[in-house]
Amino acid sequence: MAANTRRVKSVEDSIRDTDEPEHRLKKNLSGLDLTVFGVGVIIGTGIFVLTGVVARNQAGPAVALSFVVAGVVCGLAALCYAEFASTVPVAGSAYTFSYATFGEFVAWIIGWDLVLELALGAATVSVGWSGYLNQLLDDVGLALPTSIAGETARFNIPAVLIALAMTAVLVLGIKLSSRVTAVIVAIKLAVVALVIVVGLFYVAAENYSPFVPPAEPPAEGEGGWLDTPLISLLTGFSPGTFGWGGVLAGAAVVFFAFIGFDIVATAAEETRNPARDLPRGIIGSLVICTGLYVAVSLVVVGMQPYTELSESAPLAGAFAANGLTFFSTVISLGALAGLTSVVMILMLGQSRVLFAMSRDHLLPPALAKVHPRYGTPYRITIGTGVFVAFLAAVVPLEELAVLVNIGTLFAFFLVSIGVWWLRRTRPDLQRSFRVPFINVLPWVSAAACLWLMANLPTEAWLRFGLWMALGVGLYFVYSHRHSRMATGERRPAG
Ligand code: ALA
Repeated sequence: MAANTRRVKSVEDSIRDTDEPEHRLKKNLSGLDLTVFGVGVIIGTGIFVLTGVVARNQAGPAVALSFVVAGVVCGLAALCYAEFASTVPVAGSAYTFSYATFGEFVAWIIGWDLVLELALGAATVSVGWSGYLNQLLDDVGLALPTSIAGETARFNIPAVLIALAMTAVLVLGIKLSSRVTAVIVAIKLAVVALVIVVGLFYVAAENYSPFVPPAEPPAEGEGGWLDTPLISLLTGFSPGTFGWGGVLAGAAVVFFAFIGFDIVATAAEETRNPARDLPRGIIGSLVICTGLYVAVSLVVVGMQPYTELSESAPLAGAFAANGLTFFSTVISLGALAGLTSVVMILMLGQSRVLFAMSRDHLLPPALAKVHPRYGTPYRITIGTGVFVAFLAAVVPLEELAVLVNIGTLFAFFLVSIGVWWLRRTRPDLQRSFRVPFINVLPWVSAAACLWLMANLPTEAWLRFGLWMALGVGLYFVYSHRHSRMATGERRPAG
């Protein structure tokens, strides 16, 4: 049985599956659509919220450098995703790539891991959306009770509504979703541009000094060793607060701001010319966002001393602190619109990963049915939406949110090694995009992901381990036996 878990699904089989009539998705997206999708999901809670948290607690004005570090780590992984996506242009992203390289068990593990990342991410951002909404409603004196809205609600009604509304858009069709995204992305980019251009006039040079505040011993975490980054627990080395250690520790947090470029790869099957457009979409959206993040964070820490930045709405807060209340409201509105598309695309990615898994019969195949009229995997999309809405309604997300980072980094880690592995095992495959320095770059990428993971709290590792253990159990109870590889419908390639 152990050997069976390494059954590999050939790249040819993966591509063939996309042509089965009942599983065929509409190929509607262009390279530009993909870039818009990427920007639509990348810019969100990370820049609108975490900039303030990291500047105040870890990096000071050098939060901009934290963005650079996280952007570089993601850039390395993005190159690996781009090669994979141009070689195996099939829905499912890291799940599909792993099936073609490491075999079924690792593929299942990564699919399970992505489920956690994407669904939990969508739920987290839904709750954040509810928080922004209530803040705006509060501005006009119409705030909802905190038991049903905001970030600490017991039953979060706006979060449920946004998750379900985005589900409806996704069921109606990917082209419609990409139009909705395009409008939202335009608003979001306009707000970001406004922050940079208007904010620049209010930058005071003294706020940049010291740019990297001197290192301080890290504060004792409230949760004791559970709150301590794993790396500190294992080595006694502490990433620290402020100083260069703080810049690096901050990078592990603002990493969240980059999550999403990988989701572009999950839309592979719906892309007209995936070999050319996927690398463009993945790398293009990442480059645009990194540039904007660095610019926005530099402006914001220039507008207000980092010790005074707001931890919940630092961009709007910096404008309000300079007496620019009108702009502050506009920024909050932009953030609200911006978070909407993040929720939608995280759910899109989630439904496509589950779609690929059930098409391989690792999940019940009936789930993978495509709607005859809309050409979307409606059953899975609705299931995903209801699950996300449920999580967003009741789960205390703050504690779980860090799982999103660890889950994503784990996927990046496997994809990085996988791209190197597939070059060795299948050098014959056509690759329209190739990672440069193939014997070095993927390994540097994998090491960088591991290092960022090690900077996350020990508690996140424990939860991650627990979730993975559950997945392993499910694999052996259900998926291993029902897989198309097990029933003989597909023959393992290796
Ligand atoms: N990158 C996305 C955000 O920052 C998930 O909200």
